[in-house]
Amino acid sequence: MASRPFIVGNWKMHGTRAMLSEARAIDRAAQRLMQVEIALAPPFTLIHPVRREAEQIGVGAQDCHPADGGAHTGDISASMVADAGAGFVILGHSERREGHGEKDKLIAEKAAAAFGAGLKVILCCGEPMEKREAGKAVDHVLRQLKASLPDTIEEVGERLTIAYEPIWAIGSGEAASIEDIVAMHTAIREFLVKTFGEEDGTAIRIIYGGSVNAENAAEIIAGDEVNGALVGGASLSAESFMNIVLAAQDVINNQS
Ligand code: PGA
Repeated sequence: MASRPFIVGNWKMHGTRAMLSEARAIDRAAQRLMQVEIALAPPFTLIHPVRREAEQIGVGAQDCHPADGGAHTGDISASMVADAGAGFVILGHSERREGHGEKDKLIAEKAAAAFGAGLKVILCCGEPMEKREAGKAVDHVLRQLKASLPDTIEEVGERLTIAYEPIWAIGSGEAASIEDIVAMHTAIREFLVKTFGEEDGTAIRIIYGGSVNAENAAEIIAGDEVNGALVGGASLSAESFMNIVLAAQDVINNQS
């Protein structure tokens, strides 16, 4: 568990300007919960409005293109989302890997572009159920991570967050067990320390995603090597999202 848990709401393809009231309510509540780092990743269309209205929370994008600009109809570059007010970008989400055929190499290129534009990166990884049942979940995730990271990242530390999201747990209502989460996060931590050295490798945050809700959040966030949560469905209303943030705050209070 981190000294300051990082709780990120991934709104996916949800939200029109009518949802700005939820972002405002989250931001207002966040101002009283400074022991937790809170961020939202709304759709591209809401990045600027959310950034303009929110004072406390981080705001990020859910994807970016690897190029800085050019003839790429319908795409959005890292520098564009930074210009709109994003401070980070989620990359390699399984919904993009599956729905858009994104491969590890492309994700590594996107990550390099995002770092180049001054954004932080939340890099997602996670195994399908067949790999878990075959006892190959850790191998799968570490291979995926290795291939989805750019060759060099300067001063990586907190600029990179890894989100472990088992595919079968996303949106299913069934989170992974705390034992499986801790085992995976521990393996990811070892990989990060080996790859980036002790200081950076321990500063990179590893957060869990996949059916996190107010009921299971405390147990998950208190887990060893769990530095926060990436929350989909339960981030769509201020009430359910803030209940997760409150659970994270309780975990911090209970340990001190
Ligand atoms: P979920 O989504 O919380 O709805 O399972 C998590 C995610 O996909 O980031």
